[in-house]
Amino acid sequence: MAIERTFSMLKPGVVQRRLAGEIISRIERKGLKIVGLKMMTIPRGLAETHYAEHKEKSFFGELVSFITSGPVVAMVIEGEDSIARVRALCGATKVDAALPGTIRGDYAMHTGLNIIHASDSPDSAAREIGLFFDAGEIQAWKDHNDAWI
Ligand code: RTP
Ligand code: MG
Repeated sequence: MAIERTFSMLKPGVVQRRLAGEIISRIERKGLKIVGLKMMTIPRGLAETHYAEHKEKSFFGELVSFITSGPVVAMVIEGEDSIARVRALCGATKVDAALPGTIRGDYAMHTGLNIIHASDSPDSAAREIGLFFDAGEIQAWKDHNDAWI
């Protein structure tokens, strides 16, 4: 398995519910590396570009309104097979399918407010990292716990 970088984002509401630290801790405790991290309010244009694959869907307007409605915590996460592994930590998109133990299963009550985003493929990860982060905002760091993780 390859070392990958993926993009993830704590959606609006997480900061207000004081859950950011708890959710970031789950990602850290898994053994993944956070190499980029920032809080921002997403401009409408960026939100529409980020979710462009959904622009014909009935929920697109609501999705863009929600994702621009408050601060998000954007992250670049590195690790072996990190694209699939962060998706697994998040759990299923639909809250009724998101199992307890996953982030969505534990913290979300509505699919439209499902707490966290994560890239769903290598192409999405590269595209989304490029949309949200400049190269200089990503920090490579040596993980001295490698032997234990
Ligand atoms: P995300 O992009 O936010 O990480 O979520 P995802 O890959 O698991 O799901 P995706 O299909 O990309 O959908 C993006 C977001 O749109 C909302 N959604 N609502 N009402 C609905 O049927 C519906 N389906 C999706 C969710 O908030 C989902 O995270
Ligand atoms: Mg998606």
